[in-house]
Amino acid sequence: MENTEAKKRIFSGVQPSGNLTIGNYLGAIKNWTTLQDDYECLYCVVDQHAITVRQTPADLRRRTYEIMAIYIACGLDPVKNIMYVQSHVPAHVQLSWVLNCYTMFGELSRMTQFKDKSAKNADNINAGLFTYPTLMASDILLYQTDLVPVGEDQRQHIELTRDIANRFNSVYGETFRVPEPYITKGAKIYSLAEPAKKMSKSDENVNAYVSILDKKDDIIRKFKRAVTDSDTCVCRAEGKDGINNLMTIYSCFTGKSDEEIEREFAGKGYGDFKAAVGEVCAESLDPIRSEFDRLMKDKAYLEGIFKENSEKASYLARKTLSKVYRKVGFVQI
Ligand code: TRP
Repeated sequence: MENTEAKKRIFSGVQPSGNLTIGNYLGAIKNWTTLQDDYECLYCVVDQHAITVRQTPADLRRRTYEIMAIYIACGLDPVKNIMYVQSHVPAHVQLSWVLNCYTMFGELSRMTQFKDKSAKNADNINAGLFTYPTLMASDILLYQTDLVPVGEDQRQHIELTRDIANRFNSVYGETFRVPEPYITKGAKIYSLAEPAKKMSKSDENVNAYVSILDKKDDIIRKFKRAVTDSDTCVCRAEGKDGINNLMTIYSCFTGKSDEEIEREFAGKGYGDFKAAVGEVCAESLDPIRSEFDRLMKDKAYLEGIFKENSEKASYLARKTLSKVYRKVGFVQI
């Protein structure tokens, strides 16, 4: 199926299940701001995905507003892009029921995120956690999406989405556009405490990540405590996961190359380098934080965005959903 617009369509989602980190910012959101002119973009706050693990209702509600405010504060334009909340567009769950019937138990059992999350939440391996990928497939397929910018960890879910789309299309004829993963150039940022692990917004150790909204003192302190190695050279090398990660972060915020950074810190210790990374990070995040604070005081504005954009999204989503309903044999009234 062709999109009516000439521009390719992009869909991505973030769960309101933790504080967005500089990993989310440098690895994703910062790059999304460069896509908004060339693509038709939908950025969704996937609150329905978030409840597959237990959430405190007040936190979930607050974070949903926060993510929208962060998106805007980071430079995503809520008029150019369709930025909205998943639970405001019922077509996501409506399509996901249908897609559940075209997704195999075996396929879902092989999802590594399911295996990881069920190991971590052994007392709550619920059906939603298991069928999470079909809801994600619905998010994507509802909008006839061309490209899905995600991290490497989501590639398997995109592959499954493609399999589901192809399966449905081969039974009922062209219904869904088959999307491609779009693994962005954005940097991969690792944990400050365990630099072999990806920085995660749901890490139990708050010193492992820097939130986009952290205060300057906290940012400086977290970088000061960042795990490095027993060497003393600020240079990128195998086995220096901690320093490599700090170099990536410093480079993202300053635009400096590895060589420039190595020259800048030649003969200086890790302490100086960590302090510099902390400074530049705090300085770069400061305008985002103040814009965020301003937006969070204006709930009515954010609610206006929720409403307008969920209407735009619903309009697009309903087109696909009614086509699917017709094809599977549901009576239209
Ligand atoms: N599963 C994604 C994550 O955990 C979030 C997500 C939900 C998503 N639906 C999506 C990402 C659709 C891209 C497209 O990060």
